[in-house]
Amino acid sequence: MAIGYKQVTLITGASSGIGFALVFELLKRNHLVLASMRKPDRAQASFEAHPSYPLFKDNLRLCKLDVTTDSCEKTIARLVKEYGVPDIVINNAGLGVYGPFEELTDQEFRSQFETNFFGALRVARAVLPGMRKEGHGKLINVSSILGQLAIPTGSAYTASKWAMEAWSEALRYEVAPFGVSVTLIEPGLIRTQFKKNMVIARAIEPAYAFLHKLVGRNYDRVATSPEACARRIAKVILRSKPATRYRVGYDAHFYYLLRQILPDRFLDLLIRSYTGKPGG
Ligand SMILES: NC(=O)c1ccc[n+]([C@@H]2O[C@H](COP(=O)([O-])OP(=O)(O)OC[C@H]3O[C@@H](n4cnc5c(N)ncnc54)[C@H](OP(=O)(O)O)[C@@H]3O)[C@@H](O)[C@H]2O)c1
Repeated sequence: MAIGYKQVTLITGASSGIGFALVFELLKRNHLVLASMRKPDRAQASFEAHPSYPLFKDNLRLCKLDVTTDSCEKTIARLVKEYGVPDIVINNAGLGVYGPFEELTDQEFRSQFETNFFGALRVARAVLPGMRKEGHGKLINVSSILGQLAIPTGSAYTASKWAMEAWSEALRYEVAPFGVSVTLIEPGLIRTQFKKNMVIARAIEPAYAFLHKLVGRNYDRVATSPEACARRIAKVILRSKPATRYRVGYDAHFYYLLRQILPDRFLDLLIRSYTGKPGG
């Protein structure tokens, strides 16, 4: 039985990383959390193993939801029937499809958009009519600092996040008159399962070996923890009027600043010096 909660929040992709940390951050803040994921049975044990689980389990619901399927909207409609229109919906589900553009298949490119972009659209379509009618609601779209900046091997991932950014901004204007806000979260590097879950293009063109070396690099040392990222997101979404976008992590702020102050030509030089060269 749910007890004394203030708001209902639906999170997608809650089985690991940022989504998982957000679940507990919001439970701590008295939310009823609908934590959705593709395989709740598989994730159940990691939720139960969390030290805060016994304290908050009454206000946690694990739900099965794959944002790439047609049944996604029906599943959310069922949740709405049971728990009401969520006050906050966090489009967090996502993955990275990486590799040199020439080696990425159309299928890989499309699957990137299917999850990161169309997945978020599906979820939004399922909740916006209810939010509008109720005159309030917050849609939080987890983008990336790579929604502002493109990097080599990230053509599919960055394109999906740039698309999310443009869609979110346009939608923000459309739904604001109904009391509904749309906010982008732009994390820098966060220590999650993201790298492990990445889909990497098959290396078929030897000339691009130097780019594959980039994909393999490990940045955990400079990455922000998912818990710190979740704390920042939780603070932001509790604001009565959240802004259009918030960056998370020092690296995100730093890259955003570079994007703002450097002319394209200098940014180009900087990114190419980091990329390396064929045969290098
Ligand atoms: N980590 C970073 O450095 C970083 C930086 C900027 C932005 N982000 C963004 O942050 C979000 C969360 O990623 P993360 O870093 O926490 O990575 P993660 O640990 O790999 O978590 C990604 C989550 O998305 C879920 N997911 C993938 N495909 C899905 C689908 N079709 N339907 C529903 N859920 C699906 C995964 O669930 P399964 O267990 O079912 O696979 C997992 O729970 C993503 O949108 C990512 O682009 C991450």
